[in-house]
Amino acid sequence: MQMEQLVALCKRRGFLFQSSEIYGGIQGFWDYGPLGVELKRNIREAWWHDMVTAHNELLAPAAAPGPFAMVGLDCAIIMHPQVWKVSGHYDLFHDYMVDCRESKGRYRLDQVVGRWVEYQDQRIFVTSYQSEDASDEMQQRALKFFNLRGKHKDQLKWDEELISLDKLDDTSSVLAPDAKQLGTLTEPREFNLMFESHTGAIRDDANKVFLRPETAQGIFVNFKNVLDSTRVKVPFGVAQIGKSFRNEITPRNFTFRSREFEQMEIEFFCRPDASQQWYQYWRDRRYQWYVNLGLAGERLRLRDHDPDELSHYSTGTADIEYAFPFLAEGEFGELEGVAHRGDFDLRSHMEGKLDPATRPLEVEKDENGQPRWRGSGENLSYFDDETRERFTPHVIEPSAGADRATLAFLCEAYVEDEQPDEKGKMQKRTLMRFHPRLAPIKAAVFPLVKKDGMPEKAQEIYGQLKQRFNTFYDAKGAVGRRYRRQDEAGTPFCVTVDGQTLQDDTVTIRDRDTLEQWRVGSDEVVQQITERLG
Ligand code: GAP
Repeated sequence: MQMEQLVALCKRRGFLFQSSEIYGGIQGFWDYGPLGVELKRNIREAWWHDMVTAHNELLAPAAAPGPFAMVGLDCAIIMHPQVWKVSGHYDLFHDYMVDCRESKGRYRLDQVVGRWVEYQDQRIFVTSYQSEDASDEMQQRALKFFNLRGKHKDQLKWDEELISLDKLDDTSSVLAPDAKQLGTLTEPREFNLMFESHTGAIRDDANKVFLRPETAQGIFVNFKNVLDSTRVKVPFGVAQIGKSFRNEITPRNFTFRSREFEQMEIEFFCRPDASQQWYQYWRDRRYQWYVNLGLAGERLRLRDHDPDELSHYSTGTADIEYAFPFLAEGEFGELEGVAHRGDFDLRSHMEGKLDPATRPLEVEKDENGQPRWRGSGENLSYFDDETRERFTPHVIEPSAGADRATLAFLCEAYVEDEQPDEKGKMQKRTLMRFHPRLAPIKAAVFPLVKKDGMPEKAQEIYGQLKQRFNTFYDAKGAVGRRYRRQDEAGTPFCVTVDGQTLQDDTVTIRDRDTLEQWRVGSDEVVQQITERLG
């Protein structure tokens, strides 16, 4: 499947629209249309149901080290600014940017790639920005720079290796992505990804606040509130679904990298000596969740980080990744990270921001020997009644993106095939093969024709189904076209009222994937479809 086909379908059928499209759109922001909003809600609801409400804290789930409790939170998007100083986002949550003095373009340092090329006795570094395969573009730019024609391309001596700009110490021989001269890039500068705003009427630094860049911190700062207001005991998890905001320098790849997006995060608090087992449990369980909802196969993978990718305090992180169609062959994009965060977050919020480079972790100090960013001073340790021990729980964090999950389910669902129409002629069909739990519309009801009491009967069945789940009524056009519209929306079942219905009160149910059709009594429709939705 080509990404353009999916993007076109998403717009045509109302899954996704660019935000503020009538004004030319705004980069990095997306609106979910009537079908998209149902799909994303179903994903969020499946996550919340499977992780929180359906969790039985009396039993140990398969492969879990023991039973545990799960509760939820819904925290404010704007939090006390100290939260972000202590969490490290204020100091560390940035990308390095370079500006081009010639083209006035601004580029993320690690996304400018290039190769060294030599002609006669001059060696320059030709760059490209964010291209998956930039060889042709680089060749054209090098030829132009050296004032050569295409037929002289063999006179250019290229280094094989493609390197990102952040690996270079000196940029004086760099031909920037949109420049004609060398050495036009500025020194790299930090650019914080947090969106800023102000509370109250006065716009000064004292009133500066940030839109949260992750939902996780709301959970950490409420750790004590959850303990004091519920009967949960370690081990337990706290889940939250909500919007996060990052002023991404280069939002791209449809909704994959957006500036406003939704996260589904769990902070799981456990004893330090059991944390490795819990890490393994969550890593495997979260992978299986995507498999169960239809992301099976070689496009989904679980990748453990190499030791040099890990933060100093983390003893394990694994990414659940999907081979999105906009990526080059063999590349995967992150859907969810499952991280062992140790006691970094709770201790930072107690004692002051810890220095991630220290071991054992120590509070980061300023030039006066005082904590660089003060913690809350609240005691966020835990007293275990059974063992009579006090400790700071360790945290396992499965952190998923609802929009990336939605995009992956959309990509996976898209199928094109050929099926015979009513006259037996093969017709191209696009279908969205969503898992029934995720399908935006669960069933559609059609009267075969708009007469002989068929609409009345179809509307009666529609009313019954609508009480249970999202159902669509359609009486317009040839029935074959109505089926195809529902295939494109990903509706798993279509119910048709026809001439026979009026004689024996049976209707047909058609399965989107197998195209099997079978007759059932009209009073059995709700039960049959409910059972098949799983
Ligand atoms: N609390 C940990 C945390 O926020 P992260 O890897 O930065 O970790 C977690 O983000 C998940 O949030 C990612 O795996 C991804 O699914 C989603 N996410 C992050 N940045 C995103 C963006 N700009 N657009 C869409 N989703 C994003």
